[in-house]
Amino acid sequence: MKEKSMPPLAKALNDDIANSDNSAFEVLSEKGRRIFFPSKGILGQSAEAKKTEINATIGTAFEEDGSPLCLECIEELINLPSQSLLYTPSYGLPELRERWREMIFAKNPSLKNKEISLPVVTSALTHALSVSAYLFANEGDKVILSDLNWDNYELIFEQGFGAELETYKTFENNAYNISGLKAKLMEPGDKKILLLNFPNNPGGYTLTEGEALELRKTLLAVAEAGKHIVVILDDAYFGLVYEDDVFKESLFSHIADLHRNILAVKLDAPTKEDYVWGLRTGFMTFGTKNSTPAQYRALEAKAAGVVRGSISNCSSIGQHMLLKAFSNASYISQKENKYSILKRRYLKIKEILAAHPEYQESFVPVPFNSGYFMCVKPLGVDAEAVRKNLIESYGTGVIVLSGLIRIAFSAVPYDKLELLFSNIDASIRKIK
Ligand SMILES: Cc1ncc(COP(=O)(O)O)c(C=O)c1O
Repeated sequence: MKEKSMPPLAKALNDDIANSDNSAFEVLSEKGRRIFFPSKGILGQSAEAKKTEINATIGTAFEEDGSPLCLECIEELINLPSQSLLYTPSYGLPELRERWREMIFAKNPSLKNKEISLPVVTSALTHALSVSAYLFANEGDKVILSDLNWDNYELIFEQGFGAELETYKTFENNAYNISGLKAKLMEPGDKKILLLNFPNNPGGYTLTEGEALELRKTLLAVAEAGKHIVVILDDAYFGLVYEDDVFKESLFSHIADLHRNILAVKLDAPTKEDYVWGLRTGFMTFGTKNSTPAQYRALEAKAAGVVRGSISNCSSIGQHMLLKAFSNASYISQKENKYSILKRRYLKIKEILAAHPEYQESFVPVPFNSGYFMCVKPLGVDAEAVRKNLIESYGTGVIVLSGLIRIAFSAVPYDKLELLFSNIDASIRKIK
C-alpha cells in the first residue's frame, strides 16, 4: 500500500511541536502527527471574511436584520442571547477558554508562573479522553493505570484506538503503590502513556501531600532515565477532597514543567465539579517544560483538529451557560454549599464505619478520602451475589467492579447512609 504523505498543515504543526527542547513530539501517536486544524479551509476563509459587509461564507442562517435565524419556540426556552444557538469555534468559545485557564490557576496556586496552554473545549471528559487517545495512543501502545479505574477507559483506549491497558495494583500496604507505578514505567520502551485519576473512580482516593511529592520525584527519576512520558490527568472529581493532608491541587501543578521528557495533559470538566453532568463541556490543557508559545498553539490546533474531525464543535449553549455562571456573584458560595453536602455524607460514612466494628466481619473498606465514591471488599462471598441480593431483598443498588462493591455516596441522602451499610452487612451475612 502506498504510504500517505504528511499533510502540509500537519507538518507545519509538527515542526512547531518538535522545535522546542522537550519531547512532546516524541509522544504523539501516528494519528496525532497527521492531524491538523484546517485553518485554510471553510473555517479559515470564513474567519478572514468576518468583518465583511456581505458575508456569504458560513453555513448558519441569519434573519434579514442580521440576527441569528432561529425558531422562537426554541429561543424562548433559553435565558441566553440567541448567539448561543450559533456554532462555537472547534477550539471552544475564546472567552470561556481564557476564563477556565484563569480558574485552573486560581484552583491550583502552585501552578503560578508556569507556562501552560490555553484549554481546548471538548464535549466533556469522555470526549477529552478520546481526543487524548487519538493524539497519543498508537495501536499496541500500553496505557499504564491503577487497577482501580473507570471502566470506560477500556472502550476508549482499547476498543477505540487499539491500545492496551496495563494496570498496577492501586494499593500496597494500605498506601498508594507508587513503586508499582514506577516499575511499569521502567519496563522496556522509551514512550510511556500514564493515565492518572484523582479523586479516583471507583476508589474515592486522592494522594496525600506526601504521596503527591513522592510521585513527582518518581516521575522525575523516570524522565531522567530517558523515558518520554505523556501523563494524562483525568481530573473529573477535582476539588472534592475531604481530608486535610490530602493533596488539594491537580497533579498538573507538580508536573506541568517538571522535565523536558514529560508532557502533562490535564483533562477536566464542570461535569462533576460544577454538577452539570448533561451539559457536556470539558477541557484539555497541555503543560511541559521548555514549551514555546508556538508549540502550545500547535498542540491546541491538533486537539481542535480532532474535535473538528469528530463532532466539529461542542455545545454552544453549554459553553455560554458556564461562562455566565462563572461570573455569577453566588457561584463560589453555591459550589461550597454543594461540596459541604457531599463532605457531610463522607464524614457520616467514616462515623458509621467507626461505630460498627462488627462490619469488619463482612467487609473491608478500601482507602478513601475524596470524590463521589468509596468501595468495600466483601469477605468470603462473591461481590456479584451480594449486589444481586441487595437489589432483591434490601431495595439497595450498588455497583460491582473488580470484586469490590462501589458505593456512590454522592447519590445517597445522608439519612439513608446508616441503612445502606447495615443492608450491605446483613446481605453478606445472609449469603455466608
Ligand atoms: C474518572 C472519570 N472520568 C471521566 C468521566 C466522564 O465524565 P464526563 O461525563 O465529563 O464525560 C467519569 C464519569 O463517570 C469518571 O468517573
